[in-house]
Amino acid sequence: MSQSDYIKDIAKYGLENDQEKLLSALNELIDHSKQTKKLNFAIQLQSILKETIRNRGSKNLTKVGSDTYFNRVDERETNDLILEKLTSDYRLENIVADSSVMNELKNFIEEHRKAELLRKYNLPIANKLLLHGPSGCGKTLASYVISGELDKMMVVVNLGAIVSSKLGETSKNLAKIFRRAAAEDCIIFIDEFDSLGKVRDYSQDHGEMKRVVNTILQLFDYLPQSSIVIAATNQKDMLDEALLRRFDFCIEFGLPNEKQIADLVALTLKKGNFSFDNATKAKQVIKKAVGLSYYSIQKTLVTALKRSLFQMDNPEKMISPRISTFVWEELLKQEKMALAI
Ligand SMILES: Nc1ncnc2c1ncn2[C@@H]1O[C@H](COP(=O)(O)OP(=O)(O)OP(=O)(O)O)[C@@H](O)[C@H]1O
Ligand SMILES: [Mg+2]
Repeated sequence: MSQSDYIKDIAKYGLENDQEKLLSALNELIDHSKQTKKLNFAIQLQSILKETIRNRGSKNLTKVGSDTYFNRVDERETNDLILEKLTSDYRLENIVADSSVMNELKNFIEEHRKAELLRKYNLPIANKLLLHGPSGCGKTLASYVISGELDKMMVVVNLGAIVSSKLGETSKNLAKIFRRAAAEDCIIFIDEFDSLGKVRDYSQDHGEMKRVVNTILQLFDYLPQSSIVIAATNQKDMLDEALLRRFDFCIEFGLPNEKQIADLVALTLKKGNFSFDNATKAKQVIKKAVGLSYYSIQKTLVTALKRSLFQMDNPEKMISPRISTFVWEELLKQEKMALAI
């Protein structure tokens, strides 16, 4: 059967309200998607299915005080603390970085691909990763790459919601999230990890910061080996020393050099088969882009690309549209001025 046959069955059973056949058709579609290498789609379907079944279970009368009751309350509370839940199609080839960063990323991924081997020899699996460096240099992107390469669901934590809560609540909230991530065997991504430092400002109690750091240290220590925590920050100095030491890997993402800018440009232009109107001039412009982040460079390039397309007479018919190097250079100048570089 093809994917569309399964979808037709699912529509039919759904409309007929035949739950049993609907579930079996959905499961068949999940298997089919796995076999045809649509792994992300399969994971997403599976997650919808799991969640619906769990919610349906919780609609039945639950005894207060029973495990189901506590799980349900817990889940409702953790939902507010989670920014999003995602799966990813990103791969290592979607990120540009120097070879040491790439090697570190590969090594981290390898630890989880070869987890069985490590377990066999009683070796610990590195599962706590800190990504740091300036804004727009690929920290969040790297977390998507890891999630995509390992086919693991990622839970993005809303640190703002956690930290601004009442005294003593921050630690409790963190514990809840970690418990949930452990149960779902996924990646916890804590963006802006340094905002934990803000606990200091929110609280009159000087012990609060210490309590939060201690909680994280404990959660890290008891994190199951199959769960992964990725934390990202552009203010590594704000982090407590004891906390820093707990990370198995610390990867620094820096601003791109000339070679990396050229690679980023090639990556960005690959899809549309674009090229520059003047290759020699383009090389000079790349030199001038040094000092900007990957994000800023990519943003100006995409804008230049669109403006160049709009200026063409018949852009739809172009086989290899040319980008105006002049327009890109101007946009880069403006970006540098705006950022006062
Ligand atoms: N190293 C990189 N390789 C390829 N593209 C990149 C890279 N860094 C950034 N980009 C592009 O810029 C976008 C934004 O980058 P990203 O969100 O990963 O930055 P960040 O380091 O997390 O920044 P922030 O500290 O502001 O959160 C990415 O989605 C991607 O399009
Ligand atoms: Mg980010």
